Amino acid sequence: MAATTPSTPPQVRAAQFRAIAAAAATPCYVYDAGAIRAAYTTLDRAFDGYPHAIHYALKANSSLAVVRLLHSLGSHADANSLGEVDVALRLGFRPDQIVFTGVGKSAAEIDRAVSLGLLAINVESPGELDRIDQRAVAQQVKARVALRVNPDIDARSHPHISTGLKSNKFGVPIDEAPALFREMSSRRGLVPVGAHVHIGSQITTLDPLHKAAQAVVALAQALREEGIALQHLDMGGGLGISYDGAPVVDPAEYVRALVAATRGSGLKVAIEPGRVLVGPAGVLLTRVVDVKQFPGAKRFVVVDAGMTELMRPALYNAYHRIEPLARRDGPEATVDIVGPICESTDAYARDRVFPHVEVDDLLVVYDVGAYGAAMGHTYLRRPLPPEVMIDGDQWRIIRRRQTLDELLALETE
Ligand code: LLP
Repeated sequence: MAATTPSTPPQVRAAQFRAIAAAAATPCYVYDAGAIRAAYTTLDRAFDGYPHAIHYALKANSSLAVVRLLHSLGSHADANSLGEVDVALRLGFRPDQIVFTGVGKSAAEIDRAVSLGLLAINVESPGELDRIDQRAVAQQVKARVALRVNPDIDARSHPHISTGLKSNKFGVPIDEAPALFREMSSRRGLVPVGAHVHIGSQITTLDPLHKAAQAVVALAQALREEGIALQHLDMGGGLGISYDGAPVVDPAEYVRALVAATRGSGLKVAIEPGRVLVGPAGVLLTRVVDVKQFPGAKRFVVVDAGMTELMRPALYNAYHRIEPLARRDGPEATVDIVGPICESTDAYARDRVFPHVEVDDLLVVYDVGAYGAAMGHTYLRRPLPPEVMIDGDQWRIIRRRQTLDELLALETE
């Protein structure tokens, strides 16, 4: 948040965070509407009038107020499940503003996606092509489809979030794409409208993204020569953010590279950013519940948030900047910052040099607006935490803390 809202002095944010922690209790997610607006506007303006659509990837954070904000800015939507499609529809996105991706769409998902008339269903395999066609024919409609191609490009990101290599499960090999486009064109229930590529997430160099764009542009041009005219090229998401201060790709430069690759084709560019829009806009407030020192060995700062609230460190060994909200006198120490969950992987930081903290101190975990709350879960019967949206000097609770009764409501003894 600090990097994107330089106009808010730290002491103002600290006062807001303290008030929020007092009202909503910890652990608690806090998002800054101003940071989301700024990130969206940067991407949008960088297209500089070139025909485009920004499909916010709901998977990054589908909290209603966050998605509502992006909708109000003119964003379209990228959904990865029927649940996300429905969230988008409830918030007022039109079906023709929604793309639907997913490597294993169920029969029910296909049926409904077809009936909604989405902008594009991104097709992941020859089998899925067939199933979408069958459902469309049965419903006597034509489904708009895009083919997700796997360009075999190394995104050079974390292996768990790379998707564009042929060893990954996503899309169809790009060499098979022309034949599948021909097949789609011949089907009664399908209209091929686009090509889709998404090679991974948290990508911090431009080159793989640019290469993937060039690959789909070349594909579209070859198809046009065969008489198959696409309407859009969906370049996916994936642009990384700086979690640790190391340089990353400038979002405007990324957009300009996509436009440069596409301009010759004249085709509309769609992108599906998630992390870059909401990641830096979110922090997690957590409170120190214990500090303990193993003699001659580790010092642990135990906090009240864990892998239930924020999975990224446990799942990907992801780095998040963490700071105490207020500084105290006392020596720095090398600590593990760990959660309360009974798993050794439940640590937010290991061997980190950290200011002196005491029980009850508030800590701020940065850059958790994307894939934070959205991946939260209720292991150990821990209710989901609240979420708060700050807008300037105002803030409001956009999700209250789940109660134990709500958590148990689906069950019978
Ligand atoms: N489009 C598709 C088809 C995707 O699979 C994804 C992310 C996106 C767009 C948005 O990507 P972004 O711009 O956010 O990188 N949980 C992981 C990230 C998983 C990303 C999954 N797909 C994490 O916490 O890093």
